[in-house]
Amino acid sequence: MRHPKIDEMLRSCLLVLLASSLAGVARAQASRVALTPPMGWNSWNHFHCGVTEDIVRAQAHAMATNGMKAAGYLYVNIDDCWQGDRDAEGNIQPNSKFPDMKGLADYIHSLDLNFGVYSSPGPKTCARYTGSYQHEVQDAKTYAAWGVDYLKYDWCSAPQVYSPDQMQAAYRKMYDALLSTGRPIVFSLCQYGLQQVWRWGPSVGGNLWRTSGDISPDYTRMAFIGFEQNGLQKYAGPGHWNDPDMLEIGNGKLTNINEERTQMSLWCMLAAPLLAGNDLTNMDSQTLGVLTNREVIAVDQDPRGVEGHRVTQEGPLEVWVKAMADGSKVVGLFNRSVGDAVMEVNFSDVGIYGPAKVRDLWEHKDLGTMDRSFSASVPRHGVVLIRLSVPQP
Ligand code: GLA
Repeated sequence: MRHPKIDEMLRSCLLVLLASSLAGVARAQASRVALTPPMGWNSWNHFHCGVTEDIVRAQAHAMATNGMKAAGYLYVNIDDCWQGDRDAEGNIQPNSKFPDMKGLADYIHSLDLNFGVYSSPGPKTCARYTGSYQHEVQDAKTYAAWGVDYLKYDWCSAPQVYSPDQMQAAYRKMYDALLSTGRPIVFSLCQYGLQQVWRWGPSVGGNLWRTSGDISPDYTRMAFIGFEQNGLQKYAGPGHWNDPDMLEIGNGKLTNINEERTQMSLWCMLAAPLLAGNDLTNMDSQTLGVLTNREVIAVDQDPRGVEGHRVTQEGPLEVWVKAMADGSKVVGLFNRSVGDAVMEVNFSDVGIYGPAKVRDLWEHKDLGTMDRSFSASVPRHGVVLIRLSVPQP
């Protein structure tokens, strides 16, 4: 007869094995999200704290019907300012602008889109709404019950309760809470690039992490953030992306077509998340065209998941390259100067030794086969984006 102690030990071993394999399944599920950079819409850049359930429903409907969903935009994310107080049991409640979060999630899912929310590891969000501090597991369960598919987790007031060396654990805590719900939820870290987050973001479950402070709807700030990403490329890949903040295309002063194309081209070359930040119910065909250009989006969504980098810079003229899964190279000729400029790329600078076929991605035009280099006139604050393929013999 076996000693009862042995039975007890066997039982606990089995339980441990079962728990770790369940955690493994959850982890495998989580790692299947964001295999290409997430695409969607977020309320912050245009609506800030004025966002309401009706606005989010209208944005979701617009995204589903205006060609954006068909082009790959799938997440509808509420940013800050949806939270109310906690109930007597500590469950987070939305505020009066969001009377029915589950109903909203169901509506978004009925459009075959995904639903995202926002919180903070601290007691308050950046706009001083209720954060998740000491309610992480409970909040994760609430999100899963609503049907949340994406969480942006913003550091904000966390320094009031955590020291800098506790930052990673604070993010990990919410990741574990999300995992334990069993629901695949994209985990978006937002702490503005502190402590070189790109070095440890994946180890705390981050699918993306902000690499900068906040963007604003003007060329100078957008370009400053976008072009300073050079050097971070080795930290990005399927399931884990650098996030230079959301799109401002169509917002504020970012409505000139060359400037809009610059943000779109650069973000796609960076394999950055593409979260539109404008009012999708009220945009002109130019902005919609920039957001939905399929050949440009394909650069962002390339399955190889390589982030591009700068190859040459002459003052305000920058040439960037991104290696694609099919062996082709996407090259961006970016003109940050105040006047038009003729720019050139030598194919050898992007690793092509010999002739290449050139395709203009914004114009959807084959430009022919060129021997060693390509040159073009690039408008002020604009870009020429080409894809180079080596001709097959
Ligand atoms: C921070 C973030 C922004 C936005 C606001 C909301 O500033 O960086 O992206 O989420 O908080 O308050």
